[in-house]
Amino acid sequence: MNIFAINGSPRKDWNTATLLNKVLEGAASQNINTELINLYDLEYKGCISCFFCKRKDRKHGRCAIKDDLTPVLEKLNTADAIVFGSPIYFFNVTSGMSSFLERFLFPNIIYSHEIPTVYPRKIPSGVIYTMNVTENQAEEFGLKINLKTYQNFIERVLGLIPELLFSYNTYQFTDYEKYESSMFCEEEKAKQKIKQFPIDCENAFNMGRKLVINK
Ligand SMILES: Cc1cc2nc3c(=O)[nH]c(=O)nc-3n(C[C@H](O)[C@H](O)[C@H](O)COP(=O)(O)O)c2cc1C
Repeated sequence: MNIFAINGSPRKDWNTATLLNKVLEGAASQNINTELINLYDLEYKGCISCFFCKRKDRKHGRCAIKDDLTPVLEKLNTADAIVFGSPIYFFNVTSGMSSFLERFLFPNIIYSHEIPTVYPRKIPSGVIYTMNVTENQAEEFGLKINLKTYQNFIERVLGLIPELLFSYNTYQFTDYEKYESSMFCEEEKAKQKIKQFPIDCENAFNMGRKLVINK
């Protein structure tokens, strides 16, 4: 069995990557092949609206663009579970994650009421978000409403409702002294890092176990 984690953060060992690795650890404890894909290591762009993937005379589900994402998209067709992780940038997923989702989701959707997806199998998935804001601020800014659209399309393509994990009030710098960040309370951030982030990691580990058990 193959489980893939897609890191939509440019940082390879910070909050999002840490949680994604925990998911993979949780899944690996069940003897599964795991792989973390760092999107920001790859050169690619979003959908260019060529509609090759919608042509009647071509195999559906294939994106015509050839770049670093091509082998990744091929691999994802063999997945038994996928977990997507993104920091929140401007109250949405990062540009790297949204370009990736255009390339992954759109070819698997054809304009047919009868065929909601051409992805080869129904598979479980998870989505992890990390962000600066607290849970209350996220609520206030309507963050979950913004993110629902991607989640709905992931459900449509992969056939199951994704598991969700929100990690709030994340630690953003190694040393807060060095950066202008007076709008944040470093003490609160440190508390969150010591107390809440380990709980988020545990929840991520359990997400990994669940993704595999649900298969
Ligand atoms: C360009 C940029 C935009 C951001 N926008 C938001 C935002 O709108 N809301 C928020 O809560 N955090 C925002 N953040 C903070 C990140 O979401 C947060 O630090 C996240 O945990 C970073 O993930 P990482 O540690 O995996 O890189 C932003 C960070 C950057 C660099």
